[in-house]
Amino acid sequence: MHWTKRIAACAISLFLGAVALTAQGQPAPASTPHQTATTSSANLQDWWKNAVICEIYPRSFQDSNGDGIGDLNGITQRLDYLKTLGVDAIWLSPIYPSPQVDFGYDISDYENIDPQYGTLADFDRLVAEARKRHIRILMDMVMNHSSDKHKWFEESRSSRNNPYRDWYVWHDGKGETATEKGEVPNNWQSDFGHSAWEWDEKTRQYYYHKFYIQQPDLNWDNPKVHQAFKDIIGFWLKRGVGGFRFDAITTLFEDPNLTDDDVLKDKDGKPFLNAYGDVALNDTRTNNLPGTHPVMQEMRVVSDKFGSGGFPGTRVLIGETYLPNIGELAKQYGTPDKPEFQLPMDTQIGFINKLDVAAFRAKLNDAETQLGSNIPLIVFDNHDNARLDARYGDGVHDTDIQRVISTMLFASRGTALFYYGDEIGMKTTPPTRKEDVKDPVGLTGWPKDKGRDGERTPMQWDATTNAGFTTGTPWLPVPPTYTTVNVKAEEPQPDSLLSWYKSLIALKKDNPAFAHGDNVMLDTENTKVLSWMRKAAGAPQVVVAVNFTADAQTVNLTTGDAGVKAGHAKTLLKSPGGTDPASLDKVELGPFGVYIGEVK
Ligand code: NOJ
Ligand code: CA
Repeated sequence: MHWTKRIAACAISLFLGAVALTAQGQPAPASTPHQTATTSSANLQDWWKNAVICEIYPRSFQDSNGDGIGDLNGITQRLDYLKTLGVDAIWLSPIYPSPQVDFGYDISDYENIDPQYGTLADFDRLVAEARKRHIRILMDMVMNHSSDKHKWFEESRSSRNNPYRDWYVWHDGKGETATEKGEVPNNWQSDFGHSAWEWDEKTRQYYYHKFYIQQPDLNWDNPKVHQAFKDIIGFWLKRGVGGFRFDAITTLFEDPNLTDDDVLKDKDGKPFLNAYGDVALNDTRTNNLPGTHPVMQEMRVVSDKFGSGGFPGTRVLIGETYLPNIGELAKQYGTPDKPEFQLPMDTQIGFINKLDVAAFRAKLNDAETQLGSNIPLIVFDNHDNARLDARYGDGVHDTDIQRVISTMLFASRGTALFYYGDEIGMKTTPPTRKEDVKDPVGLTGWPKDKGRDGERTPMQWDATTNAGFTTGTPWLPVPPTYTTVNVKAEEPQPDSLLSWYKSLIALKKDNPAFAHGDNVMLDTENTKVLSWMRKAAGAPQVVVAVNFTADAQTVNLTTGDAGVKAGHAKTLLKSPGGTDPASLDKVELGPFGVYIGEVK
């Protein structure tokens, strides 16, 4: 299932989830005072609480050896760029040896580097060079499945008596006889289309795969699988990584009773079809089962045991947590006695996918008030979703709209995660012909779902051939926009999107209200402009107003009981061409304009 559609499916379970939560008398921890994170060295222990994390898709960032594929040495060459941006940590999507069916999310050896990307020595050098620049390297950890070429699976499928047989999820078919192959055990589907069960002729059973056929699910009811991953995590922690992003973490467990998933139907009872032509299902029996919590508690114990790894502060565990509601997200942090993730991703804010003021106000407010003393991890984009232009742009004001989006990302309380290339305004560039598609999701879903190639194109560094990404033939074509949308062109321009990102990130780090102040929504009935205040004891308050429309707007930030008074503000940042307000009861914003000011 393409991730944008995954979000649509989540919206349905959001409703169901909300009902379940009320029935259990749950939700959300009461609002408690937020832990604070400042940029002072005394608080580096909590570096991840106000951090800026950049997701790099290594295949597409920088090629250093002319084979058209980005690599680790390429990333090392570009560390100074990331440093200038103000990045604290880089999450690398998988770089382990892999048949590359799912471009690295099908791992065949968890303790090595794919030769396409380099060697362990290159990796160690990247970690060391990054550390010199105070940047941490975060690894992608894929525990739901391995590659079918991993030695564990090759053993597992070799015979029913093999010691690795129960490392994966095997089941008899329905109605199986000595000679006749049975039917699939139930209706469960792969997120990448069609049945999640694959028949294995040699041992005459089905194995389960939530993703591709070449990505068999590991069996997390087997303690040996737990131990194997604790060892793998230790292997990378010893090498000095800053932490991990846990892939597809909500899908580790499945319903042991093999109950069918419910079919999603329209109001007339007709089943919805997805892009793959399958009946759409609500995957509650294969997603977000409770077993993940003790697993993450175990992983957190391992991570914490390893201490800081040469940096001040702890390692960090990030979760790929597409969840139906804030109550479910709150559970991913665990409890003070049994902590889980420090930073499960809040995917509810960034994937609203339309500029709807009320929706953003509600979701940002949820992150502020419903996570107790935990820190939200805000994310708008990644390698699985069309880029920001395709989800939020109007084709006319895209750069201004990206200022609006990045302001919500960096000027809200929490840790901010952005995707490489968003800082220069790279545009989604999907293939136009099926024969050019690289992502199998696009091959299965064509033409309705063109897959994820469009958001994985090479980084646009400059206006030379192949945008400075490679001297060879790039593995995906460089989008034609590279002649103007590139780092070199934007760096010297004060009004560029890149300069905007740098200014916002600097404010996030240096302004005390931004670094650790609470978020308080302002002007809360307004449906055109989203406004909020950042408020920290002993520091000047900061107000932020972002216009979600293509028309000029004037807002009064002194309404309501947040306590902002009419009067002067010192402008900290404003959209190009914006004005400095004479008083906060009359802030004028241009089309998709942003204003940030310190209250005087
Ligand atoms: C989520 C990853 O982000 C995506 O790229 C991958 O295809 C699936 N998990 C399966 O590992
Ligand atoms: Ca290369």
